[in-house]
Amino acid sequence: MSSQPAAPARKPVTITTLQNMKGKERFSCLTAYGYSEAYAVSDAGVEVILVGDSLGMVIQGHDNSLPVTIEDVAYHIRCVQRGNQGSLLMGDLPFMTFYSEEVTLESAAALMREGAQIVKLEGGAWLAESTRLLTQRGIPVCCHMGLMPQSVNHLGGFRVQGRDPAKAQSIIDEALVLQDAGASIVLLECVPAELGARVTEALDVPVIGIGAGPETDGQIMVLHDLLGLYPGRPAKFVKNFLAGETDGVQGAVKAYAEAVRAGTFPGPEHCYQ
Ligand code: KIV
Repeated sequence: MSSQPAAPARKPVTITTLQNMKGKERFSCLTAYGYSEAYAVSDAGVEVILVGDSLGMVIQGHDNSLPVTIEDVAYHIRCVQRGNQGSLLMGDLPFMTFYSEEVTLESAAALMREGAQIVKLEGGAWLAESTRLLTQRGIPVCCHMGLMPQSVNHLGGFRVQGRDPAKAQSIIDEALVLQDAGASIVLLECVPAELGARVTEALDVPVIGIGAGPETDGQIMVLHDLLGLYPGRPAKFVKNFLAGETDGVQGAVKAYAEAVRAGTFPGPEHCYQ
């Protein structure tokens, strides 16, 4: 890169921005792990950047996200925040960095000090107390439900969640508990499209989906998936936006953001029934 990028051209996205979009306009989210990716993603108008523990797989080459540490995520947030042009920056709390309330506060504070503006934790209603503690101390929370990759061993693999009616209802009930505890966002991974729509309807806070159908308030994808950079067969909810794109990576990211906004992504072929 030859020159320093210009100052942010758009109004920074905040949680209030996303809250105001609920029910009116869909928003897009992408992962990023480094300066140049963050610049490209935010410059394309993507509302939220997640420094996710998926970095354990796409950056570090592990089979799952369990080996990722808080120092790893903090390092990548530091890189990303230098390139970010106004997207809301979300930091992921990795495996075993929120097992007690004290540890949760310390882990979340470490990411906020590096530039995160909201933290994401995987779990259900049991996260209510931590969510309350964090939000009371000025740290916004996104609760990640449905398929929780940090629980891959407990779940017996990366499987669709909430297929039976009782489990679907408990996801809705637990999401409501977390909203009441102060969660600003709920992220739903790998659930039937109908359940994605029901959770979105039930909650007042924005719901971000990945493999959760077309009716969530926002959509998220791992940047490497969007660019076709995955070994083996992609998950059903993945679309390679770089294939056939003439404007390269920037064009692919813009095409994704536009498709989410227009409601054309995800299509039926990317959804679980
Ligand atoms: O770590 C991550 O990238 C994530 C997304 C898949 C939602 O949690």
